[in-house]
Amino acid sequence: MNTREPAEAGRTEERVLAKIIVVTSGKGGVGKTTSSAAIGTGLALRGFKTAIIDFDVGLRNLDLIMGCERRVVYDFVNVINKEATLNQALIKDKRTPNLFILPASQTRDKDALSQEGVQAVLNELSRDFDYIVCDSPAGIEKGAQMALYYADIAVVVTNPEVSSVRDSDRILGILQSKTRRVEAGEEPVQEHLLLTRYNPARVQAGEMLSVQDVEDILAIPLIGVIPESEAVLKASNQGMPVILDQETEAGQAYSDAVARLLGEVVEHRFLEVQKKGFFKRLLGGK
Ligand SMILES: Nc1ncnc2c1ncn2[C@@H]1O[C@H](COP(=O)(O)OP(=O)(O)OP(=O)(O)O)[C@@H](O)[C@H]1O
Ligand SMILES: [Mg+2]
Repeated sequence: MNTREPAEAGRTEERVLAKIIVVTSGKGGVGKTTSSAAIGTGLALRGFKTAIIDFDVGLRNLDLIMGCERRVVYDFVNVINKEATLNQALIKDKRTPNLFILPASQTRDKDALSQEGVQAVLNELSRDFDYIVCDSPAGIEKGAQMALYYADIAVVVTNPEVSSVRDSDRILGILQSKTRRVEAGEEPVQEHLLLTRYNPARVQAGEMLSVQDVEDILAIPLIGVIPESEAVLKASNQGMPVILDQETEAGQAYSDAVARLLGEVVEHRFLEVQKKGFFKRLLGGK
């Protein structure tokens, strides 16, 4: 799986080797950065050389969730402005081999990322990495569009509520019209739905949309359902991607999502209200 074909002899154009995954949503605060950290770590745990890039200029959340904020010296914008090389700016993850983080700049200039600059960084990374995970800023404006423009694969992070689903639908519109792939007439960006902060009890009480509701509206394949869990906040407070805590349902659900991203068929878990007691299990309850 993890083999890369050598570049064909005599080819002159830039050959993109890494798969570029954008983690996007439209709506803010739905779990993009949490998911980027988990998916990037999960891919690296599978042996793929992976870089996670924080596109959220000015905010810098990814390095906190990855627990590497004290090691940030140079960032994405420094590389684009040629104030640092990619090697200087990439932070090697301290826990997971094969994993690197490119932190966001804390500049207040939201226009600090240029299309050509982003392309140059992605091209350089592509030669050396298997996967590049782009953690998108919120919204559907320039920053979010920049993060998804070069994507091969999109993970559309959605919460089971109307406003989040509506914004995800908007992002799907952009994925289908404003990407390098569409412009070049290539295969479209592969779209995947990642439903996060899912609370089956609240779905049962009619307070949240069900998996089926969201799937019906967005009509893209479901790659995972991450339960609403305190473990996520706890892990991020510790600067640790939750996927490393396989004792937690959220960690397990992210592992399943990574497996599906890699094409494995894995049954969905954590979709139903947990039934208590061994009696129900004895009777065949899930
Ligand atoms: N499955 C979950 N269960 C509980 N809390 C979660 C879950 N996923 C994310 N959160 C919490 O939601 C908040 C927002 O998460 P995160 O920063 O990943 O979202 P985001 O989409 O990247 O936000 P932004 O749009 O601001 O970049 C955080 O406090 C995070 O801990
Ligand atoms: Mg974020």
